[in-house]
Amino acid sequence: MAFIHFPPAPSSGFCTIIFVLALLIRINHLPVCMPQQQNNRYNDCYRNFQCGTDVNVSFPFWGGSRPNYCGSLGYQLNCIDGDVAEMEILSQTFRVLAIDPETKVARITRKKFMDDDDADCASKYHNTTLDFALFSYAPGIVNLTLYFHCPNLNKSSLKFKCGGINSTGSGTSSASDAYFVISNTSGDSSTSMLSSSCGRSVQVSTMGSAIRELTDNPSSLPKVLKEGFDVSYVASAASRTDVEFCLNCSASGGTCGYSDTAVKSLTCFSSSVKGTYLCTPKNKVPSSSLPVCPTQ
Ligand SMILES: *[C@@H]1O[C@H](CO)[C@@H](O)[C@H](O)[C@H]1NC(C)=O
Ligand SMILES: *[C@@H]1O[C@H](CO)[C@@H](O)[C@H](O)[C@H]1NC(C)=O
Ligand SMILES: *[C@@H]1O[C@H](CO)[C@@H](O)[C@H](O)[C@H]1NC(C)=O
Ligand SMILES: *[C@@H]1O[C@H](CO)[C@@H](O)[C@H](O)[C@H]1NC(C)=O
Ligand SMILES: *[C@@H]1O[C@H](CO)[C@@H](O)[C@H](O)[C@H]1NC(C)=O
Ligand SMILES: *[C@@H]1O[C@H](CO)[C@@H](O)[C@H](O)[C@H]1NC(C)=O
Ligand SMILES: *[C@@H]1O[C@H](CO)[C@@H](O)[C@H](O)[C@H]1NC(C)=O
Repeated sequence: MAFIHFPPAPSSGFCTIIFVLALLIRINHLPVCMPQQQNNRYNDCYRNFQCGTDVNVSFPFWGGSRPNYCGSLGYQLNCIDGDVAEMEILSQTFRVLAIDPETKVARITRKKFMDDDDADCASKYHNTTLDFALFSYAPGIVNLTLYFHCPNLNKSSLKFKCGGINSTGSGTSSASDAYFVISNTSGDSSTSMLSSSCGRSVQVSTMGSAIRELTDNPSSLPKVLKEGFDVSYVASAASRTDVEFCLNCSASGGTCGYSDTAVKSLTCFSSSVKGTYLCTPKNKVPSSSLPVCPTQ
């Protein structure tokens, strides 16, 4: 991590003069004007990624009008039609339903689960996996195992509708019944019966709070999966520190991002407009959440 010191305002003027001179005398190699560049990074990264009503986030997220140096690899968001946020995790597309920067939790669901086309509903459900370097399951989530292409097993409490009469499927059975088992009830005789009778199984996650609805109304399963599950986006101590660094940075009026160096280091960019150094000099006792300036 590094803290950028901005020279006083005249140096921006200096850069402008050099730039104009360069244009006039056609120098091919322009001098690098760091303050100007850093100021751009401040302006670029100052904007949140805003999409729909429930996604309005800064670091570690980037995408849309936030260039990649405003966030960390793997936290790219896309905003579809201005109101649906999406993210790729291990090549699977997830819909991002909401992000809470306070708790650092995102509620996500597989994009395919949102599809209402029921022609072959079994094929839209896949094992859901996370990149555990970036995300971890939030407390309170419950895993479900879904079974497809099952014969009629007379287990209405675990059955949901999946696929129409034309559903064929790739399993051993052409039957279209589907069942689910809540993973914390495994050991249940249903699990072995379903896994031996059905053609396809996948594991997905849901919020623990949805279990009641599923128990009362098993056919609500597709709807429950659309409502998603929570993941923490500070999966490591290092990412927690980075996010905290950026919160401190924005509390001090700056905005964080990566500086454009070979070694990508997280930096607190300040607005040179304000003309303030966003760090506490070493010889002063830190009085606020301002980071201590590094040695020059
Ligand atoms: C997004 O969050 C920022 C502060 O983090 C706030 O200033 C802004 O008004 C929010 N935008 C919307 C559309 O809620
Ligand atoms: C759900 O499954 C995932 C992946 O297998 C596992 O890491 C996680 O601990 C499970 N969560 C619960 C609550 O069982
Ligand atoms: C289905 O199960 C119920 C009780 O769970 C039982 O009364 C009924 O006879 C069963 N039907 C068949 C066809 O096995
Ligand atoms: C099943 O397939 C037939 C022939 O392809 C089609 O006419 C019919 O509409 C399909 N039914 C459903 C429920 O998709
Ligand atoms: C999902 O994962 C389980 C356990 O790893 C595996 O047995 C199953 O075949 C997988 N399902 C699919 C459709 O890949
Ligand atoms: C499974 O998890 C749900 C939700 O957390 C809970 O209500 C239920 O009692 C658990 N069942 C068992 C058998 O542990
Ligand atoms: C953020 O500020 C708090 C309060 O001043 C401080 O204790 C903490 O070390 C700072 N964290 C980082 C990563 O700079």
